[in-house]
This record gives sequence, structure tokens and C-alpha cells, in this order.
Amino acid sequence: MLIAEITDTHLMDGGLPAYGSIDTRAFLEAAVDKLASLSPRPDVLLVAGDVSEDGTAGSYRIFREIVARLGIPVFVVPGNHDARENMRSAFLADGYLPSEGHLDYIAEIGPLTLIALDTLVEGEVHGEIAPERRDWLESALHETRNRPAIVMLHHPPFATGTKMDEIGCRDGDALAAVIRRFDNVEIVLAGHFHRSVHRRWAGTAANICSSTAHQMGLDLAHAPGFKVFMEPPQVQLLHWRPETGLAVHQVPIGDYECVHEGR
Ligand SMILES: [Fe+2]
Repeated sequence: MLIAEITDTHLMDGGLPAYGSIDTRAFLEAAVDKLASLSPRPDVLLVAGDVSEDGTAGSYRIFREIVARLGIPVFVVPGNHDARENMRSAFLADGYLPSEGHLDYIAEIGPLTLIALDTLVEGEVHGEIAPERRDWLESALHETRNRPAIVMLHHPPFATGTKMDEIGCRDGDALAAVIRRFDNVEIVLAGHFHRSVHRRWAGTAANICSSTAHQMGLDLAHAPGFKVFMEPPQVQLLHWRPETGLAVHQVPIGDYECVHEGR
């Protein structure tokens, strides 16, 4: 089972560049090219939020057109740039999103369960999961406790040591208390910080995937302001084998020369 993950595609209505200069549409095309070139091909695509930069129906339409080329199921969660109702309308026909309320859901992905959490607080950059939705997570994990699970949400609920922590998911400790009670959670996947980060959290592995486009500068010194860099974007692959469990691979987007071949 090969699960591909991308995040923070930040598409604009009409395919316009984000922030006037970042061609997020072309970057998504390149990410899809990379995924399409893999052998074996991914079975499913996860998207950890900020699919859109401007929350428009047009931006979601472009996203769907581009990823349709892969011909595999796509599962999304909203980020702070997404508009919940436009996102729901764009993806409702795929059958996994609830028809009202937050975009929390459970989906079966082969032998694994995906539990997706909507951390979007419209108009805010940070994320939240209210107590009653933590209860929902607990019952979802309980229901699916006999299968390996992946939890996906946009705002990282854990610390990374960077200034970005100020705009993560505010209820991280309470969320950790729920996740810690279940030993079938293989990994917690987040986006939002536009950098690749890995850590142990809540008794499991936790991870932030790079954006398909622009990355936030590494800031462990908490310098004033923030800087965006065009560092190489990556896709993430979650490779599941029943015998050995889950392994996570980051793969840079683009074609790279093979400079040596052994035998
Ligand atoms: Fe975000």
C-alpha cells in the first residue's frame, strides 16, 4: 500500500500566482508529475490542507483537474486558507466528507484507517479542536482500534521549536491525551508550516510535510518577521507493508540525474 501525501498547494482562482509570483499551479503539476512517475504508483493521495490560497471554488476546480490525472482517491482536510463550504462543495461528491459541520471524517484506505480532523478557525491563522470534537476523535479511534490508523490535520498540534509554533493547533496537549490512549495510531500528519519536520508526539510518530511550492525559512532563533524561500519542494510517501509496518519517505519533486549505477 503506497499512500502519497502533499500539502499546502495554495492554488488561486484562475491559476494566478500566489503572492503575485509563486506559480502554485505549476508546482502542483510538477508534484503530480512526480507521483505519476513512481513505480509502484501511489494507491491514494492525502492532502493536509491549504489546498487553496484564496478559498475560491475556482481554485478547488483547478486542484481537482490536476490531481484527476493520477486516477486515485484523494482525501483532503481544510487549512487556514481554505473556505470550509467551498471545499465541501468541491469534494462532497467523493463521498467521504460530512454534509454539514466541520470536515472531520473517517475513511478506510486499504488496511489502514484515515481519521481526518478539521482544525480551521475561519479568519484565523492558528487552528483549534473544540472539546466535543476531541470526544469524536476518541470514539473514532475506539471504533477503529483494531486497524492501523493515520491521523491527519492541517495545524501541527505539537511543538517544532520554531516561531511557527505560535500558529499551530492550540489544543495540542488535549489532543495528545486522546491519541496517547490508542496504540494503533501509526502517525499524525500535519501541514501548515511549509517545512519537513518529524518528531515523537503523543506516543506515536508525528510529521509535517513540505509544501508543494514555497517553504518557510528555518527559524530556530525566532528572529523577527518571517522569510519564504523557494527551497526544493517534496512529496511524502507512506509505504505500508503488513510485515514491517509504515515507513515514511520524502521525495524531492523534479527529475534528478542518476550519476552512478551499481549492480
Ligand atoms: Fe496553513
